[in-house]
Amino acid sequence: TSPLLQDRFGRSKRKLRLSLTDRCNFRCRYCMPEHPQWLPGRELMDRQELVRLATLFVDAGIEEIRLTGGEPLLRKDVVACVAALSRLRERGLKRLSMTTNGTRLPMLLDDLIEAGLDDLNISLDAVDEVRFQALTRSPLAPVLAGIERARDRGIAVKLNAVLIQDYNHDQILPLVAWARSRQLPLRFIEYMPLDEPGRWQAGQVVSEAQILGVLEQLHHVQALPRSSNPATQYRLDGDYTVGVISTVTRPFCASCDRLRLTANGHLYTCLFSRQGHDLLTPLRSGEDDRALRQRITQRVWHKDAGYAATPGPVARLITMHGMGG
Ligand code: GTP
Ligand code: 5AD
Ligand code: SF4
Repeated sequence: TSPLLQDRFGRSKRKLRLSLTDRCNFRCRYCMPEHPQWLPGRELMDRQELVRLATLFVDAGIEEIRLTGGEPLLRKDVVACVAALSRLRERGLKRLSMTTNGTRLPMLLDDLIEAGLDDLNISLDAVDEVRFQALTRSPLAPVLAGIERARDRGIAVKLNAVLIQDYNHDQILPLVAWARSRQLPLRFIEYMPLDEPGRWQAGQVVSEAQILGVLEQLHHVQALPRSSNPATQYRLDGDYTVGVISTVTRPFCASCDRLRLTANGHLYTCLFSRQGHDLLTPLRSGEDDRALRQRITQRVWHKDAGYAATPGPVARLITMHGMGG
């Protein structure tokens, strides 16, 4: 990769998570308060602005862009965004992905694939309606419809389940059975302290060790060598693989290759950064590409060590829905 996106700890950046909007039609408890405050519309990057910044990142060495939210499919020009970003393949982009709650896929999937989207991660925290609603404050059926649509269409899909003690810790085996019967890869995610300030409690984290304990009740589990971040993969009964993203108990910060750009154009070099770096204001006040690129490379150089260095809740106003997960 290009040496431009290197940090002071010797980590190169290959992946950019680009949030298209902070809005969401769900209200997952681990992600946002029940009555969130949205960014004002005028503060959001328009398509031209976000494509211009994304181009600078790709020219500096970013190879994969993952579109996030809030819920990225709520953005009205999402298909046009995908089409415009897909053109960055000519400049070195290798993969264009999206993380979504899936509810709008039945309506949008054909157009997204046509526009150049390569793959999808879809959040599915429970297969039981009551558990699902307790966690997401939203109905399950539209998500299942979105997943089935994606499967029918043949686009690569991974499922994500954030586990919270006393909300959906009993969904580990049901989720595995559901995903395995459809041959969809599934990843369990440890609950991270990035929601409403004061909500997260260490005792609510279902750890990788606990997840493995449950899997072993029913399956023969074999750890696979950690190949790529963020998930560690486990082989079940020799014919199905689940991943575990254990940010809390086993952070992968030492090899982190990611950057984040929020929908209002702030660069966060770490998911746990206390502050972002505003790129949109200088862009709007006329800064040229060279100066903007310099801002990016300097900021990346000073990237924080990560969660491993300062574990615990992050004191900041922006919650997960504004960060894109
Ligand atoms: P691929 O591995 O490319 O499929 O994507 P991903 O797993 O990074 O994307 P996804 O949006 O599905 O995120 C899954 C979980 O990983 C979410 O809970 C993210 O918050 C978490 N995650 C993603 N990137 C980072 C990161 O840089 N640091 C930490 N600690 N967690 C991350
Ligand atoms: N801890 C762990 N994962 C989270 N996500 C959102 N909030 C949290 C949290 N507090 C996940 C979502 C989605 C991804 C983008 O981030 O479930 O899969
Ligand atoms: Fe919406 Fe995703 Fe946050 Fe749930 S986790 S509220 S679906 S952005």
